[in-house]
Amino acid sequence: MERIGFIGLGQMGKPMARNLLNAGYSLTVYNRSKQPMEELASYGAKTAGSPREVGSNSDVVILSLPYPETVKQVVLGVGGVAEGIRAGGVVIDTSTTDPLTARELHEELRRRGVGFLDAPVSGGPEGAEAAALTFMVGGEERDLERCMPILRAMGKHIFHVGGPGAGQGVKLVNQILVALHTLAAAEAMLFASRLGLDLGMVLEVIQRSAGDSFIFRRVAPQFIARKFGRGWQTYLIHKDLGLVLKTAEKLKLPMLLSSLAREKYGAAMAQGLEKIDSAAVIKVLEQLAGPNTRPGHS
Ligand SMILES: NC(=O)c1ccc[n+]([C@@H]2O[C@H](COP(=O)([O-])OP(=O)(O)OC[C@H]3O[C@@H](n4cnc5c(N)ncnc54)[C@H](OP(=O)(O)O)[C@@H]3O)[C@@H](O)[C@H]2O)c1
Repeated sequence: MERIGFIGLGQMGKPMARNLLNAGYSLTVYNRSKQPMEELASYGAKTAGSPREVGSNSDVVILSLPYPETVKQVVLGVGGVAEGIRAGGVVIDTSTTDPLTARELHEELRRRGVGFLDAPVSGGPEGAEAAALTFMVGGEERDLERCMPILRAMGKHIFHVGGPGAGQGVKLVNQILVALHTLAAAEAMLFASRLGLDLGMVLEVIQRSAGDSFIFRRVAPQFIARKFGRGWQTYLIHKDLGLVLKTAEKLKLPMLLSSLAREKYGAAMAQGLEKIDSAAVIKVLEQLAGPNTRPGHS
């Protein structure tokens, strides 16, 4: 069985790492703060003092980190994974970055005889807990074939979507839709609320109407309960839209709605909502609308 290393034990990484332990893999973990490492050690993981140490203890190293810059630093920086991992190893990056970053990492590691898969995920912390994530994998067939049992221990749907960078491309497509659908649902529910409609009734009817969507079903109950949690954090959706715009700029492609959406999630960050679920973007729309002084008409 492959020896696995895991770096980045946040909302996604921690449950993914636990599922690997549950599947019987020997696991070495590293995270910037110590607390999640200690928690995983209590379930049987070994802890490391640096990404390099994770690399030297592992055949396959998995990453779940916030930004492209973090991933590059952790893999290629001083004391990074590339200094420890032996030729023949594979790095799997499940973070959301961008196609260019993925291709750069693939080239750098390939030069050292190490494989690289960009394998971003969808399903959120709930999907990570349930080992039900969707993986969108870019990279070489033989690396994916080798890593398939590892991905299956964390996910339900594993798609090989193309060569290096293609996984990140598909993930960014998903993120455009997630960000815009969340904003559309927020605007629609604010409209319903100002009309004085019964929001529970709106939820029930829309679920059986053409305006329904996976995202609407996810966020409308949060709007109604006014409870947003910490699942799909605003800072990550804001980061993802930034990556979409950066990538689109290279393609000379205008992204009108994604630009507007990024401003709205940016405003949510400015209001201190960065670590709150992105559904909380409705608060920005509410603030723009001002207090509800007019009587509703239903
Ligand atoms: N949350 C979602 O719904 C979701 C869904 C799909 C994909 N993703 C993607 O998955 C990735 C992780 O997301 P998340 O929600 O798990 O984020 P998160 O909860 O903020 O976790 C990020 C983790 O990375 C650690 N970290 C940061 N810099 C590090 C470094 N230099 N070395 C080692 N560890 C470092 C953080 O440590 P500290 O404890 O010190 O902060 C934290 O544990 C992101 O790329 C995100 O876009 C997230």
